[in-house]
Amino acid sequence: MRLDRFLSNLPCYNRQHVRLLLAERRVRVDGIPVTEPRHDVREFSRIEVDDQLVQAGRPLRYFMLHKPAGCVSATVDPQHRTVLDLLDEPDKHDLHIAGRLDYNTTGLLLITNDGLWSRRLTQPQTKLPKVYYVETEQVIGEHYIEKFREGFYFAFEDLTTQPADLTILGTHSARLSIVEGRYHQVKRMFGFFDNKVMRLHREHMGPLQLDPALQPGEYRALRPDEINAL
Ligand code: URA
Repeated sequence: MRLDRFLSNLPCYNRQHVRLLLAERRVRVDGIPVTEPRHDVREFSRIEVDDQLVQAGRPLRYFMLHKPAGCVSATVDPQHRTVLDLLDEPDKHDLHIAGRLDYNTTGLLLITNDGLWSRRLTQPQTKLPKVYYVETEQVIGEHYIEKFREGFYFAFEDLTTQPADLTILGTHSARLSIVEGRYHQVKRMFGFFDNKVMRLHREHMGPLQLDPALQPGEYRALRPDEINAL
């Protein structure tokens, strides 16, 4: 339904009043000010006028999944098992992934129906550190550290990656903290040295750590303190 129609159906507003409320940016839908009268609203949209909640919308949901290997970070896939197939929840079509992982990458994956929250989390300006445990085919050299700090030029996006923090753990293993989430970013960074990533596991996203009690394929709801920490 159109937003202006929804509002003028409420007993407290007439059409003229609604026009004014929209023009003065006093109406928010899912937390975002909306001025467009034709904006489409649904029964699950959260609608506020000034500080008054006029429709609560659907409950917001947040989950942490220990993503196993061999599973796609997508909501639907014609061929492969998706991360949503691992969730035993109603209305799964309402959920989306906040920060995808590759098919064989394991570890912390966040799933929600709160678009504002996931946008904040994934937009590059937030600079949320993502921490990965990495195992490689070839030996990881000390000289890698400086290059990860300097950044890698990605021709496709025409950008240089933000400084990344590499800690060498063994001849073929390291912990890497990056603040972006470019396509295949970690693999492309190690690819610069012709060093293939053999295992990739996300341990942290900002203040959130993968719950060690979760086995691959298991998930749990986030606690309020975890939701608010991001
Ligand atoms: N970087 C990658 O190359 N793959 C992932 O899954 C995540 C980060």
